[in-house]
Parts: sequence; C-alpha cells; structure tokens
Amino acid sequence: MSIHVKRRRLMAPDITALKGGEPIVALTSYHAHTAAIADNHCDFLLVGDSLGMVMHGFETTVPVPLELMIMHGQAVVRGSKRALVVVDMPFGTYEESPSMAFRNAAKVMKETDCGAVKLEGGRRMAETIRYLVDRGIPVMAHIGLTPQSVNVLGGFKTQGRTIDQWHAIEEDARLVAEAGAFAVVLEAMTAPLAERITKAIPIPTVGIGASAGCDGQILVMEDMLGLSPNVPKFVKKFGAIGAAIDSAIASYAAEVRGRTFPAKEHTYSLKNDEAEPSLAAARATKKPKTTST
Ligand code: KIV
Repeated sequence: MSIHVKRRRLMAPDITALKGGEPIVALTSYHAHTAAIADNHCDFLLVGDSLGMVMHGFETTVPVPLELMIMHGQAVVRGSKRALVVVDMPFGTYEESPSMAFRNAAKVMKETDCGAVKLEGGRRMAETIRYLVDRGIPVMAHIGLTPQSVNVLGGFKTQGRTIDQWHAIEEDARLVAEAGAFAVVLEAMTAPLAERITKAIPIPTVGIGASAGCDGQILVMEDMLGLSPNVPKFVKKFGAIGAAIDSAIASYAAEVRGRTFPAKEHTYSLKNDEAEPSLAAARATKKPKTTST
C-alpha cells in the first residue's frame, strides 16, 4: 500500500518505516502556500535553517535565531495537512547541553505544532539525541557536511572524499541511529560512503548531494525551482521560477508605465449604475459644515 493513501498527518515512525522501501521524498519549506503545494507530493517538509540564506540573505545559517524558525515553522504547519513537518534547531540553541536542547526543542514543538526537530552533528550530539527522544521529541540527525560548522570546516566542503575520512562519518551515522534518531540527513558526501551508511544503519538516510544510494532525497525548494541564484553542483533545477518571476515583474512594470494596468476589470465602480460625478462636482455639492456655538 502506498503511504499516500493515508489521510492523517505522517509522524516520525511513519518515516522510519519507509527504510529500504519506496524512496522518501522531501523538500525544505518556509512558507504556507508553497507548503500546501509540496504537501501533495512529499513525505516530510523540512523547515530548514537554510531559510536564513534563501529567504533572509545571510551568507551562512549561523545567524538564524530560534524565533525565525518558529515563525516559518508555524506557516508550514498551517499550510500543510499530510506531510510530517520537521523544524531545524538553529546554531547555538542545542549544542551546549541536552537540557538546553530539550528546552528549545520543546518550545519549537509547542509553538509550531511540528512533528519533529532536526539537529546537526553525529557522535558529538548522540547524548543529546537520546535525551530528547527519551523525553518525547523525535529527532532527525544531520551528518556529513553540517553547514552550521562552516567556520570550523573552512567552507561548504564535500565530505568523505578520501577513504581515511569514512570511518568517522560511518561512526556518526551508527551513533545517531543508536541514540534514537528516526532518520538521518546525509549532506554532500561521496556516493560510495552514502551507500555504505545506508546499508549499515536501521534508520532511513535522506540524501542531499549524497547520491541515489540513500533511502530518500531532500533539496532546498528554492534551489530546485530555479529561484536561488547560486546552487551547489548536486542541485537539479526542476523549474525556472526565477526567470518566470522576472518576466512577470517586467510585464507588470511595462503595463504600469504604459497605463494599461489597472484595466477596467481591476477597478471598482459605483454600486448602482449611476453616472459618476466628477470629483469637482461632488465637492461643489457637498454641504458646508455648520458649527454650533
Ligand atoms: O537547512 C536545510 O535546508 C537543511 C537541508 C540542507 C537538509 O538542513
């Protein structure tokens, strides 16, 4: 039975159950109306902290505050009905201690009504993942390229390019699965490493730049729609929305300047079929105000 015939909103265990089966389809989503469209096609929607770069013009995800994640999370939950909504924990809101992570993740879940949170890190976050899961918060892990660590990594670099790097990344995957993560994002890593991890762990791997060997795929919606000006090599542009927006705005500007927009059908007229008095005539017939002393 396809998962698409289920009516209720998917939950974290539904995603885990897809391990090894039909590929999991996911996109990032930051906005109610596009969430409603993506909801028809996706198993989960990620309110990713990439929204800092994609929507708010930051150069990295590091400056993104928790409040911004909550506002976009609320919009995506309102816009969608069926997909699991996962909200990213932004940099600085979970790394310090498991209890800090719980406080902030619980706030995200209470205020957005999302079904899970995602956080970056393998071995170093395993204790926190266990702490959150034991207290009722489903966690999606994220390993390989972890963009919140861009300042330590020295850039957005592909992981596992040499075999001597593989062991640490495979251990990250094993440890987050053991800690209770319901799925794990593998970002920007070589195909054979992603395939090995996918075979080795019992939870689904969701790849972004990690090959078709994963249990599912995720992309940043604006990247795959052709809206983002610069995209990584692993992005396929399934649309040309940027060009469509440019052409629509150019037509609007031309019509405003040419006074062909707004036309009669975009303009309000009087309720009854009365002849409209000119403004000057209407002013002339207006009774002067009487002042009482
Ligand atoms: O923030 C994000 O968009 C992500 C994806 C890259 C998985 O974490």
